[in-house]
Amino acid sequence: MIIRNEIESDIEAISAVTKAAFANHPHSNQTEQFIIIALRADNALTVSLVAEIEGKVIGHVAFSPVSISDGTHNWYGLGPVSVLPEHQKQGIGKALINKRLSLLKKSGAKGCVLVGEPKYYERFGFRNSSGLILEGVPQEYFLALPFDNDKAQGAVVFHHAFSAKE
Ligand SMILES: CC(C)(COP(=O)(O)OP(=O)(O)OC[C@H]1O[C@@H](n2cnc3c(N)ncnc32)[C@H](O)[C@@H]1OP(=O)(O)O)[C@@H](O)C(=O)NCCC(=O)NCCS
Repeated sequence: MIIRNEIESDIEAISAVTKAAFANHPHSNQTEQFIIIALRADNALTVSLVAEIEGKVIGHVAFSPVSISDGTHNWYGLGPVSVLPEHQKQGIGKALINKRLSLLKKSGAKGCVLVGEPKYYERFGFRNSSGLILEGVPQEYFLALPFDNDKAQGAVVFHHAFSAKE
């Protein structure tokens, strides 16, 4: 498996992987592929990594900047992250996320947040943070990973592309 940055010819495959991964997700509105397109169109797709096997894109993860009400900069939102159903549970999601988190940290980012299943993301060090909130999302599903003990506090806002519906 190769993990690399997206190139233009991956765009359709990324949408297809995302659509397939979220097709039966209980908390999804099946709009995740549109979020990625809207982030890209707004130059807010800070990172878009694909996992590829034998020339086929089978996984993808996006990162985009978030804002925090205390004025802290350089925090990122993780997601959407997707692995084709037939390739799930083989460590591909983990490899994509770990690779990007370590690069993000090295690049001077202060931290990362996401909305997701705590049981999955705890393995990467994500935890509930009493100091950071995301309006409309139950606190147990809003997870943060500060780098170097960053103490950002306040309301987090994801890029407006996250409300893309088509
Ligand atoms: C979540 C996802 C990206 C993980 O990718 P993956 O390649 O299957 O994950 P990995 O192989 O790295 O890790 C598999 C482990 O994560 C667990 N896991 C996967 N999804 C989980 C979830 N939603 N909740 C809890 N655990 C989960 C598996 O049970 C497995 O556990 P184990 O290591 O103890 O056996 C992938 O399952 C996916 O695309 N899911 C549909 C879309 C989605 O839910 N995206 C995330 C939204 S927050």
